[in-house]
Amino acid sequence: MTTYDIAVIGGTGPQGRGLAYRWARHGHRVVVGSRSAERAQATAREITDRLPGARVTGTSNADAASAADVVVLAVPYDGHDELVGALADQLADKVVISCVNPLGFDKQGPFGLDVPAGSAAQAAAALVPTARVVGAFHHVSAPTLWGEQDYLDHEDVLVCGDDGDAKAVALELARAVTSRDGVDAGRLRIARQLETWTAVLISINKRYKTRSGTSISGIPRPD
Ligand SMILES: NC(=O)c1ccc[n+]([C@@H]2O[C@H](COP(=O)([O-])OP(=O)(O)OC[C@H]3O[C@@H](n4cnc5c(N)ncnc54)[C@H](OP(=O)(O)O)[C@@H]3O)[C@@H](O)[C@H]2O)c1
Repeated sequence: MTTYDIAVIGGTGPQGRGLAYRWARHGHRVVVGSRSAERAQATAREITDRLPGARVTGTSNADAASAADVVVLAVPYDGHDELVGALADQLADKVVISCVNPLGFDKQGPFGLDVPAGSAAQAAAALVPTARVVGAFHHVSAPTLWGEQDYLDHEDVLVCGDDGDAKAVALELARAVTSRDGVDAGRLRIARQLETWTAVLISINKRYKTRSGTSISGIPRPD
């Protein structure tokens, strides 16, 4: 297994914290990023309280991204473009994984927003053309990631991207969450479908009072 240095931008939120926890638990070095270094350090402590000895620290988003091989964007879509633009120097040439879901909510429930670039992941790629952007981890829920279950082995992490090596990193990082490689879902433009699919899951959750997930049938699995 390759050990990665992973920066989680917006890692103080439930999704970033949950992913950071799973990766640290799997042996990766994780830096939680935030607009406030103090908030990031507090989240890193929450994780190490659960995982004594895990390699998790916290700092500003820019310092976290500078030090990492892999940068994960775990921020709301609202403000996403400004944040990515501000981190352009730190994201250049890096593997950048976006789990950002641009969703709206109204009286009828959740829905996918129209994003001018097609998707949040494509927006990040357009803002930092040398970044090797991948979309992944859109459908694993924050409470489940932070929960007690060893692995979310009833779910799949769907991964899309245009850079094969970057996509391979995200496919491998899925093992920390589901215990198996992610599923290669295609090119980066597929992020538009992956991001908005989360609206379907939230809608199901509301009706069935559950936490639904995504699992793909019909593909080869290792024994
Ligand atoms: N929650 C889930 O179950 C879930 C599941 C799958 C995907 N996602 C996606 O993952 C992303 C993060 O979700 P979340 O629920 O963790 O979100 P969140 O709590 O709303 O935000 C995460 C962090 O982003 C930072 N942030 C907030 N507004 C910002 C802004 N305008 N500019 C820069 N940073 C900002 C905050 O950190 P600081 O204030 O410390 O900087 C915050 O703690 C979202 O795009 C969401 O769609 C969420």
